[in-house]
Amino acid sequence: MLSQADNELLTRVGQGTPMGQVFRHFWLPALLPSELPQPNSDPVRCRILGEDLVAFRDSTGKVGFIQNNCPHRGASLFFGRNEEDGLRCVYHGWKFDVDGSCVDMPNEPAESDFRAKVKAVTYPSAEWGGLVWIYMGPTALEPQLPEMEWCLVPDSHRIVRRWVHDTNYAQAAEGDIDTSHIGFLHRRAIDGVAGLPPTRDLAPKLMVKETDYGFVYGGRRQEADGRFHWRLTQWMLPFYSIIPGSYPLTGHAYVPIDDTHTSVVGYRYHAERPLTEGEREQVEQGLQVVPRFDPQTRLPIANRSNDYLIDRQMQKTVNFTGIRGISEQDMAMTQSMGPIYARWNEHLGSSDVAVIAMRRVLLRLAQRMAEGARPVAASDGRIYRVRALETRSDEDSLQGVLEQNERALVASVQTS
Ligand code: FES
Ligand SMILES: [Fe+2]
Repeated sequence: MLSQADNELLTRVGQGTPMGQVFRHFWLPALLPSELPQPNSDPVRCRILGEDLVAFRDSTGKVGFIQNNCPHRGASLFFGRNEEDGLRCVYHGWKFDVDGSCVDMPNEPAESDFRAKVKAVTYPSAEWGGLVWIYMGPTALEPQLPEMEWCLVPDSHRIVRRWVHDTNYAQAAEGDIDTSHIGFLHRRAIDGVAGLPPTRDLAPKLMVKETDYGFVYGGRRQEADGRFHWRLTQWMLPFYSIIPGSYPLTGHAYVPIDDTHTSVVGYRYHAERPLTEGEREQVEQGLQVVPRFDPQTRLPIANRSNDYLIDRQMQKTVNFTGIRGISEQDMAMTQSMGPIYARWNEHLGSSDVAVIAMRRVLLRLAQRMAEGARPVAASDGRIYRVRALETRSDEDSLQGVLEQNERALVASVQTS
């Protein structure tokens, strides 16, 4: 459990909050390039860390993130005209470039220098790993982009999707580092513990090792032959997961829209080859780490308002939940806790060590931020070059299995 004060510290991300400051020291994946498909394409709304912004791609192809409210009298720049190298407010015609400079103020006298005194809030952008990123922190401390393996591979080797999750980011992220739910929530058959391999241990031993990029955690299950089945999951600051399994690997980024909504980025990639049509189709069909969602609103089809389309008959005969899709099953659980769960009501057990570790790492950063310390992981993108792994071993300690698989846990992709 967390104290009420620590729950607040963990979950609040708006301007001026300590955790909001932590997030503002990292590059954040904000949009897909296809949301701003070409120079001078339509501006789009982008709410992130509780700030309402408008994103647009200027005539040179550069992406700008600008405050939603026009600096003149506050009309939304979403309605603006994306003209030659700037976004023009349609109320009185003021025009701003991607850096926030007012480049035209046609309703003031030509000799006025008022234009030079007006500046809109804008944030730097970058395109990287099949996404458009934003940096909302201090200019002098601009971080490096994280060199996660899925960002380093060519576009053909990766599929990235983005949808909206209507809870706090931490709750959503905790679902990815909670290996013990797999034997229940995602169980395919309902015949006792059937549907799981007969030797699969339902009470894995979980161990965490903190690293410079966050932590790696191991879920160790006893196999019938006396060996261990290990799932080694990576959790990277401030909100990324790489889920173990065979290639293509998958994971999520949980980017706070505000305190009670999250933009989830789901990725699936192969380090060595392009994804097949079949592998892409699985993602489109909601069979992988991406739910089926409305492409316009980005809201999942199965959601809180329709009880995730639970089918009670299916729950009796087909799977454990009666809910279709791994992502939908996860969402039903983490969203059913409420927009921000009152974590002081929890009873955490030994299966929750990774969840506890995530909170500990983030809370420590937030506390250090208050003392002026910058997150180390923001300053070196190379430390993100790690992989998740599923393996068998005689090793019973996390340190042992990490050493045994040292090379397999490092991304092999070289930057092109
Ligand atoms: S409110 Fe935008 S130009 Fe007046
Ligand atoms: Fe899950």
